[in-house]
Amino acid sequence: MGDPVGTAMWNPFANMATLAGHAITIVRGEGSTVVDAGGREYLDALASLWYCNVGYGRTELADAAAAQMRELAAFQIFEYYTNRPAEALCRRIAELAPVPGAKIILTPGGGSDAVDTAGKLVRAYWRAVGEPTRQVIISRSHAYHGMNAYGTSLGGIPLLTETFAPLVGQVEQVPWDDPPALEKTIELLGDSKVAAFFCEPVIGAGGVYPPPAGYLSAVREICRRHDVLFVADEVITGFGRVGEWFASGRFDLDPDLITTAKGLSSGYLPIGAVIAGQKVAEPFWRPGSAEVFRHGYTYSGHPAAAAVALANLDLVEREQLIPKVAALEPVLARALAPLAEHALVGAVRSGTGLLAAVELAEDARAADPTLGQRLVLAIRNRGVITRLLRGVALQVSPPFVITEAEIGRIAEAFAGALDDVARG
Ligand SMILES: Cc1ncc(COP(=O)(O)O)c(C=O)c1O
Repeated sequence: MGDPVGTAMWNPFANMATLAGHAITIVRGEGSTVVDAGGREYLDALASLWYCNVGYGRTELADAAAAQMRELAAFQIFEYYTNRPAEALCRRIAELAPVPGAKIILTPGGGSDAVDTAGKLVRAYWRAVGEPTRQVIISRSHAYHGMNAYGTSLGGIPLLTETFAPLVGQVEQVPWDDPPALEKTIELLGDSKVAAFFCEPVIGAGGVYPPPAGYLSAVREICRRHDVLFVADEVITGFGRVGEWFASGRFDLDPDLITTAKGLSSGYLPIGAVIAGQKVAEPFWRPGSAEVFRHGYTYSGHPAAAAVALANLDLVEREQLIPKVAALEPVLARALAPLAEHALVGAVRSGTGLLAAVELAEDARAADPTLGQRLVLAIRNRGVITRLLRGVALQVSPPFVITEAEIGRIAEAFAGALDDVARG
């Protein structure tokens, strides 16, 4: 549905030459369904951008924002100041995180703020402990760490990084599935040069790649051996998406830092958090230390956003949504598995909570570079919203409140659209 009022909007990742005036205006949502300005309903197979875990239309979250705004909408937390919702949220996250003695840095936007905060924090940490030459951060091919400067520089999707390189220096990349390559890179650089390894436990925007068996324990051990900080980017996986509160818990990662956002508030207001373990916090918190992490944002610790995040975590707990994700993991896998037989499909990846992707066959993509986008539209014509990841795979990451019947409808829409497109 075209909306002429929308034509001043320059959309992210969009070719405005063709899109301007043709964007779909979403006006409301309920559960896993959103509705456009023309009244058409869509089942949202994405939970928006991997974040609307509790589903749409949760009035209790709107009420939490309104109540907090009436009392204190916002006040800064630089230096001396704090506020009750932000304090309570930090305690809550520290209790939930599989990180003993965690300290929490609240970030005001999405995951990009958390990633850039973590990137600067690892640099500040090594300087504080007297190893300032440890500056290199290593990431993986297919990685997505957001769109701020550090995150863009650490990204492993060439289309998203090449335009801007070089941006932040002192970054290296290793193949996403190759622990020996990580160790070799650290050894070539020398331990004294390497600050951290950034790792999505399940690669998300790069195409939904669950970790190969043994991969995460191997890279965790390599980082330990070389005293390289292990940063788990849980912007997608944090707060339940893999059937536990954190992927770091599910895969026993014992990370030095965790970056989060999205599921912290289910996106009802923007907020994120960096969870710091004792090792990283210690030089800054030790009694008598003069070290200061000189970093923060105007809206860090925003009380209305923190109140919404607290209400969201309450809801996730009260409705037992994380065990529900665990129970739906095999349901989603079973529903999507038959798609792998289709001639246009190369692989179906699933098996880590409510995270899956349908990868298109390489020969079919080569024969028709528009295949992916045509499928996205064909699936939308069948009432389901998905999108294309890295030009190769269709994303499935529904809200936690999705029903088994709705998962079936997603699979049906994918199968029908694949047939529609195959017929031409
Ligand atoms: C793993 C990961 N890190 C960071 C980000 C950046 O988050 P945002 O777009 O909210 O800034 C994303 C976004 O999808 C992500 O998936």
